[in-house]
Amino acid sequence: MQIKRRNFIKSSSLLAGSVLLAGKELSWAKSLAAPALRVRKNVANLSPTNSDLSLYSKAVQVMKQRPASDPTSWHYQASIHYNFCPHGNWFFLPWHRAYLLKFEEICRAACGNPAFNLPYWDWTTHPTIPASFWGNGNVLFDNTRQAGPTTPMPAEFVGPPVIATILNLDSYEDFGSYKAVSQRPPSGGGTGQLEGRPHNNVHGRIGGNMGNYWSPLDPIFWLHHANIDRLWATWNDRGHQNSTDVPYNNYVFKQNFHNINGAPVDIVVKSMMNERNLGYMYDTQHNILNIPRLASTFNIISNDELVSTASATATKQAPAVFSLAGAQRFSNLMGHKINKGNAVTFDQISTGKKEIKIILSDIVPPGKEDFFVRVFVDAPDLTVNTPITDPHYVGSISFFGSNHVMKMDNNMEPMPPHRLKFVLDATRNLSSHFSVSTNKVSDEVKVQLIAVPMNENSEAKLTTGKVEIVIAEKAG
Ligand code: C2O
Repeated sequence: MQIKRRNFIKSSSLLAGSVLLAGKELSWAKSLAAPALRVRKNVANLSPTNSDLSLYSKAVQVMKQRPASDPTSWHYQASIHYNFCPHGNWFFLPWHRAYLLKFEEICRAACGNPAFNLPYWDWTTHPTIPASFWGNGNVLFDNTRQAGPTTPMPAEFVGPPVIATILNLDSYEDFGSYKAVSQRPPSGGGTGQLEGRPHNNVHGRIGGNMGNYWSPLDPIFWLHHANIDRLWATWNDRGHQNSTDVPYNNYVFKQNFHNINGAPVDIVVKSMMNERNLGYMYDTQHNILNIPRLASTFNIISNDELVSTASATATKQAPAVFSLAGAQRFSNLMGHKINKGNAVTFDQISTGKKEIKIILSDIVPPGKEDFFVRVFVDAPDLTVNTPITDPHYVGSISFFGSNHVMKMDNNMEPMPPHRLKFVLDATRNLSSHFSVSTNKVSDEVKVQLIAVPMNENSEAKLTTGKVEIVIAEKAG
């Protein structure tokens, strides 16, 4: 790790951490007043003058004037994302946290004010792009956007119930995307709910630069990611634990980032796991939305999944339908008819000890972000107009940069786009479906995917290779 101690202390405002309290530095540390953490603020509360917002604007202006070859320039900073950003795997959260931190330092130097902190855009409470990011000649404006100043980010992806569900996930991977051995494919992975729902949809909904891996060219990118980072910090504050996987924690983002002098730096994943240890926090980080916390870890236990491996394509005209046979057996597993170690009772479902999940995998990257997909089970007459209030609605998924040609550097062979994977919670939809007591169990469950275009030119087409229904169990 090449983060210089000097820089760390500087950027953390002399955070009097436990490190300093060890050994001979004790008396020196004691003599320091506990310094305040830096606070990243909600852009909705910032004035266009004399605030972190005006400092941001100044920094963007200065960085845009620098030559593209300068690592501290606007264009070069965006190219870091194009070249290295991990998506669809669990390096997503720590990589983007590191990216924001190094960018924020470069902004401080560029605007000439060491007090600057990057604001965030809370699209849940303010679903349109902030007014200060519009207007020709405004350095915060990006004229490639498809969304206009009054286009809201859809509640289906950013609304309070969606965010509440995401903040109550307990598995790090369900929350922050799935295990992989390296930041870019081929290495396994899968898209978690924070990334696959609000994160991806906001990118696609804004469109233009925001719709692809050059997205940091749009100044709103950084505030969008500060909000993703805030939701991660909030999730931790609510008592959920980050992965302790050792290879993951020791993984190094090698020279992906640059310091304020333009020198490349290495950043290790484990150094990104706690925002306060990095010297900052968010102004609203505690119990946002007043969501009651459900502490639980769910592990997938069922080996008797309902599976469909017949590939099907969802379009805007017709849903992809996956018929998963074996519901009777699954139902028995859910009840206590079969004496299996992992039998699940409806008691366990209703008390929240078990969940039913739908796993969509082997998805061909659509290469387009101008549509999203709604997932239903057993919905009669499903069309693109079926409302999400329909009781058969499970959830929605969105895509980002899925056709990006993966290259770590110019000497490397490009890798083909990797298959995608999403996990949705269908407990609410399916617990009664599988109820042995209702006597209406057929041996089949239909999982349906319908492609919803975001504009009329959208082809809206998604091919999925595998759909499973599994039981997940609360750990401990
Ligand atoms: Cu790596 Cu939201 O982007």
